[in-house]
Amino acid sequence: MGHHKLEHFAENLTFPNLFQVSYEMLKQEGFALRGRWAEHFGNSNPITLELGCGKGDYTVALARIHPDRNYIGVDIKGARLWRGAKTAHEDHMDNVAFIRTRIELIEQFFAPEEVSEIWITFPDPQPKRANKRLTCERFLGYYKHFLKPGSPIHLKTDSQELHEYTRDEVIPEGHYTVEYATNDLYATPAEVHPDIPCLVEAQMTQTFYERMFLAEGKPITYIKFRIN
Ligand SMILES: C[S@@+](CC[C@H](N)C(=O)[O-])C[C@H]1O[C@@H](n2cnc3c(N)ncnc32)[C@H](O)[C@@H]1O
Repeated sequence: MGHHKLEHFAENLTFPNLFQVSYEMLKQEGFALRGRWAEHFGNSNPITLELGCGKGDYTVALARIHPDRNYIGVDIKGARLWRGAKTAHEDHMDNVAFIRTRIELIEQFFAPEEVSEIWITFPDPQPKRANKRLTCERFLGYYKHFLKPGSPIHLKTDSQELHEYTRDEVIPEGHYTVEYATNDLYATPAEVHPDIPCLVEAQMTQTFYERMFLAEGKPITYIKFRIN
């Protein structure tokens, strides 16, 4: 393991905005802020999650754009989360937090109706294991437990397969409404389509992986849907 990685893991323990709980602790005691995130943030502004946030730069960017909302980035990789947690801490961004966990355990961290929006950004497409995809019915079932009714879920991915799977297989089977879907997000510039307001939010900032894919000339897919 790299020297920096160990330093980052140690520094992670000092950040007041980064939460990591062992599986045993979760099972025995539960997560202390479940149902009490408003106390942590000091307000009851709506909470947006970014699942699989990596370095957390999208979480931080969205939080700068919307200081009237709270943002929580979730990932299993502590060395990546370090980046976002450090920036948010140094910049005194009180509306940002991070959770280091497997998303399979996400229900343990939020009480019913505690979350108002989810972004799923460039998740591993899992071509061989449908039940590991972050938009499969199993994971959507977890999210349903803590989302407010009608909350939007956004998926941005370079994987046409994951996009089509979500749009054509998962959504038509369940109780979901698609608000907007495109195979090439930036082919429809938001400024020339004021009739599609969600394009503004989807195009206004990019994730770390998204910038790499755009530099390679890959189209970015986007879908926004709601659980009915
Ligand atoms: C391709 S990266 C994308 C990172 C970031 N969203 C971006 O666009 O720059 C996928 C991220 O999802 C995380 N991830 C994948 N499956 C996960 C799971 N089941 N639980 C927690 N994190 C997961 C990985 O650790 C990785 O950081």
